Amino acid sequence: MSRRRSRKKPVDLTALELSIEGQSLQRKIITIYFAISFVPFVVIYWIFYRYVPDKLYSPQVALLYLMLLALSLTGYFLLKRWVRNILYIVSGMRRILSGDLHYRLNVDSRDEIGEMAKGLNDLVDELEKSMEKLKASKKLLEEVLMKIGEGLAGSSTIDGFLELMVNTIAQALDARVARLWLVDEEKQELYVKFISGGRKSEIGARRVPIGKGIEGWVALEKKAMCLPRRPASRGHVFSADEEDPTIVCVPLLFKDRLLGVLSVEDKYSGENFTDDDLLILNNIGTQTAVALENLRLNEDVEKTYMETLSALAIAVEAKDPYSRGHSKRVSEYAEKIARKMNLSEEQISIVRDAADMHDIGKIGISDEILHKPGPLTAEEREIMNKHPVIGEGILRPVRSLRRLCDAVRHHHEWLDGSGYPDGLKGNEISIEARILCVADVFDALTSDRPYRKAMSIKEALEEIGRWVDKRYDPKVFSALCEVLKEEGKIE
Ligand SMILES: [Fe+2]
Ligand SMILES: [Fe+2]
Repeated sequence: MSRRRSRKKPVDLTALELSIEGQSLQRKIITIYFAISFVPFVVIYWIFYRYVPDKLYSPQVALLYLMLLALSLTGYFLLKRWVRNILYIVSGMRRILSGDLHYRLNVDSRDEIGEMAKGLNDLVDELEKSMEKLKASKKLLEEVLMKIGEGLAGSSTIDGFLELMVNTIAQALDARVARLWLVDEEKQELYVKFISGGRKSEIGARRVPIGKGIEGWVALEKKAMCLPRRPASRGHVFSADEEDPTIVCVPLLFKDRLLGVLSVEDKYSGENFTDDDLLILNNIGTQTAVALENLRLNEDVEKTYMETLSALAIAVEAKDPYSRGHSKRVSEYAEKIARKMNLSEEQISIVRDAADMHDIGKIGISDEILHKPGPLTAEEREIMNKHPVIGEGILRPVRSLRRLCDAVRHHHEWLDGSGYPDGLKGNEISIEARILCVADVFDALTSDRPYRKAMSIKEALEEIGRWVDKRYDPKVFSALCEVLKEEGKIE
């Protein structure tokens, strides 16, 4: 028997212990063997002594003893070898169990001991492969969770986070399609909220009743499911279809409350999803459900804050009959101008929401200044001009309102840099702020003020037109004119 040592050679106390135990075991077995081997000698001696004493010291008996001795010695060496092999295997097993998965037994005998060693090697091979797969799965899971964590920190809305998560899952599981289904409590249905790799038209349109189909079953039973390509394994719950892809599907549960379902279909490699994939998706599902719930709670809080701010903005205006409804009207003009200028939906929503809040900072200005019937002194003007900065300070703490801060802060900036609070020039002022500025002035000029009557639309446009290029963006101004023309307010 030859032996190959492991690549690693650590000081192995277990092996040392075994070698002491092994030596003592080997000694015990050999002692017993010799004790047993001694019996035939005694028996032969006794037979000759009892029945043919005259032949007791004959050459034939001596030859018999010699043969017995030779047999005993052969037996001794064979036994020693077997015992040593068994001890070697036991020592190898212990070494493997202590964590050295690179160690392999090398026994060249073809008997049962050889087979045992080979079986053990095969077992360790499998174990090593499983360990490697497990390590790879763990790494993948860590990477996915890290990406999701980063996404969670970086996304300002639930939607941004969920979209990133669905894309990450599809990538991580090497899947053609990943879907996130959310629950429609009223209709007791699941609907596709996000999809990666499939038809985008499914979003919001594809619906499954809870309890029907694979996703419906997962939602109803609140149990994960991993299905291979073969339809036979689907059982009676589903219709058998030869073309159905392999699928892995998990429920999104928060404190046993169903929030949705994650389903992933069809591996690029053509293989079936494995239990490892299911485990990964389950882990992601758990994290996602917690994040989803947290984001929802946050959005609820932010929604309440936003509603409170809107109420405050209206309250500020309500105190002054001259500015009542100002923000609402500015918001409507600003949105129309933004649409006319073909801004993106995201920009339009910023313009609209920022207009609603643009003078919220006036909460911080005293009523004497705010409602002074005559012109303001230089000192009072300075205080009044702080309202964009105060407004920004009110909005900034709320993550979802941060997108409005720029337009609110800069709605009194002018193109030539003579505006406030930062004296920005030209393109330094965002398009949202430039639109807001024109809409704000237009509504102010066309409203009554304590010190003057409202201008007509024509007069207001003439007044703004005088300042185009110096204060106001010409493109914004022409968009406003077009809007008013379309509404039949000017010719
Ligand atoms: Fe303002
Ligand atoms: Fe205003």
